[in-house]
Amino acid sequence: MSAARGSASTQADARVPATARALGEGRAVPGIRLDEVGFVYPDGTRALRSVSLEIPPGSGVAIVGENGSGKSTLLRHLDGLLRPTEGRILLDGRDVRRDPVETLAATVGLAFQDPDLQIFAERVDDEVAFGPRNLGLSGEPLATAVREALQAVGLERAEAANPFNLGYSRRKLVALASILAMRVPVLALDEPTTGQDGPGLARVVAVVRSALAEGRTVIATSHDMRFVAETFPRIVVLRGGRVIADGSPAQVFAPANGDLLRSTHLEPPAAARVGAAFGLGSTPTEESLLAALRERA
Ligand SMILES: Nc1ncnc2c1ncn2[C@@H]1O[C@H](COP(=O)(O)OP(=O)(O)OP(=O)(O)O)[C@@H](O)[C@H]1O
Ligand SMILES: [Mg+2]
Repeated sequence: MSAARGSASTQADARVPATARALGEGRAVPGIRLDEVGFVYPDGTRALRSVSLEIPPGSGVAIVGENGSGKSTLLRHLDGLLRPTEGRILLDGRDVRRDPVETLAATVGLAFQDPDLQIFAERVDDEVAFGPRNLGLSGEPLATAVREALQAVGLERAEAANPFNLGYSRRKLVALASILAMRVPVLALDEPTTGQDGPGLARVVAVVRSALAEGRTVIATSHDMRFVAETFPRIVVLRGGRVIADGSPAQVFAPANGDLLRSTHLEPPAAARVGAAFGLGSTPTEESLLAALRERA
């Protein structure tokens, strides 16, 4: 069980009125600001260096970078699992350093990179019900939240299964459904596409797109450059815990950024590489590549 879930369960009863109000469609999506955030793990490993990011409500932000560049560490700060050792995190302009993790977790839902650190229940539906129940949902609304979340990830027929008997990719989807069922205004998804085949990837893309269409904020890490370029309007590149690029897919994957990306072992999506090879400018997505080819023809 995760730290967030553990403390959410122990504090749930006292917090029901406030968090129950927070659950559902009317909940405001906060603007998020990281202000010179630095983080050092207790063993002395520095994982974030002076990270400043402005994430307006309704943003879609992908965070990319090589292994160990600080992506997961950054996401864990958003729901309060980790606290900055330097700098501040502000939601709607308010420093959240003293907000308990269960309060932050009702606003920012973090789907862990490793689903086995998140999943603890012995039935898929119990697992997915845990978060919304802690936010005060019960009865038919709870059942609906669970059903819709499982449908969104294509696991509606696995509701009675033991998550630990599902394969890794489906455990990732259970972890994602658990967060979706809470209907949080901010989704923080740590490597949601890892291990997914084509249909699994399409489900994750659909989940992200529908959350963005609803006006929620989605912040996701990924090593899949095609996924990030096709799904997110903004990409932040980390190297050694620092932001080294931040912009649209066309800006970040522009041919001029080739050396910068190579310095952190990132390969632009195939469409961008084809566009660069043929001198078509920045074509980070298949759509933009086709448009550039049509223009030239
Ligand atoms: N619990 C921990 N204690 C000490 N150091 C840690 C801990 N977790 C991560 N680190 C270190 O912090 C740095 C950033 O790690 P982090 O997991 O945030 O990177 P990442 O970009 O998510 O990597 P990956 O692509 O492998 O998921 C790395 O040097 C990592 O070894
Ligand atoms: Mg990680």
